[in-house]
Amino acid sequence: QSPKSTLKDMPFKFGASVSAELLRTNSSYKALVIKEYSSLTAENAMKFWALHPLENTYNWKDADEIVALAQANGKRMHGHTLNWYEVPEWVTNFSGDTQAWENLLKTHIQTVVTHFKGKVSSWDVVNEAIDENGGYKNTIWVQKLGTDYIARAFQYAHQADPSALLFYNDYGHDYNPVKRTAILNLVNGLKQRGIPIHGIGLQLHTRYNQPDEDITSAITSAAATGLLVHISELDMTVNPQSDANLTFTATLAEQQAAKYKFIVKTYYAIPKAQQFGITTWNVTDGDSWIPGTYSRPDWPLPFDANYKRKPAYQGILDGVK
Ligand code: G3I
Repeated sequence: QSPKSTLKDMPFKFGASVSAELLRTNSSYKALVIKEYSSLTAENAMKFWALHPLENTYNWKDADEIVALAQANGKRMHGHTLNWYEVPEWVTNFSGDTQAWENLLKTHIQTVVTHFKGKVSSWDVVNEAIDENGGYKNTIWVQKLGTDYIARAFQYAHQADPSALLFYNDYGHDYNPVKRTAILNLVNGLKQRGIPIHGIGLQLHTRYNQPDEDITSAITSAAATGLLVHISELDMTVNPQSDANLTFTATLAEQQAAKYKFIVKTYYAIPKAQQFGITTWNVTDGDSWIPGTYSRPDWPLPFDANYKRKPAYQGILDGVK
């Protein structure tokens, strides 16, 4: 790849999750987002608690700003996420009967999908419904509506926008075979029932020393469903042991680059028609969710905190050579 290459030159969509606030306030961040990516996901702005903070209040501002940036720059906009266990307090405290809960589920999904129709071309309909031991997470949605609410969530989204591509999104495909199998059983079951599901999102919050065979299992088993495959939240900790004194050495940078290259190479080997794309979670090491969440130094992304390309960036480009 010549030096002028950007991630937009990749043979499949390459995206990032973005923050509306950083796009508003940080010109270096905004410039990098415009220059490098062909797809955007809102890191938080399209979540239930962000869009629908009170029962009769929708807050479109941040999400609309991200959508407008995507449209102005010819980028795809992927919606995250119509249904998840993270809900605002009014939902947690909602005291309706089963029919009222079903209406709550349907109304949120259809109001949101309708608002973004024609601008958001794909959705994470349900996010993280399967737990570590392969069962369903005991979320408020399962408690109130039973596990088959998942199928109905996809149907509600499809009714609101028949052209939108609908995904089931989760994490752990690389390091938890029990959970991976349960996820695949869920999506294959939905597909076989004729539920309108089009894709599977592998978050792939992975680590620099995750064995290659785990990465291969995650990606190829997802492709075996025949659905679109989105690596939807890719980042790569180089400090899984949470060493407070770790420094980002050249060796770690090269190891990270090699693993990014392997992930991209493996993804590029699945059938072309299933290559929905790769999205990193956040843009630079400076805005990654990982250091703050785990209270540790970490350098998970292809750009450093000064918006400079790291060896991982070249590793990504090399993955499709
Ligand atoms: O903006 C509010 C602020 O108004 C409020 O005062 C404050 C206190 O509650 O919260 C702020 O919201 C925070 C939000 O990030 C925006 O900064 C939430 O506390 C915080 O929990 C939220 O964290 C996000 C997390 O999802 C939970 O929604 C992270 O930024 C985001 O990177 C992370 O992303 C998730 C994906 O959606 C799903 N897969 C895993 C991934 C990493 O956890």
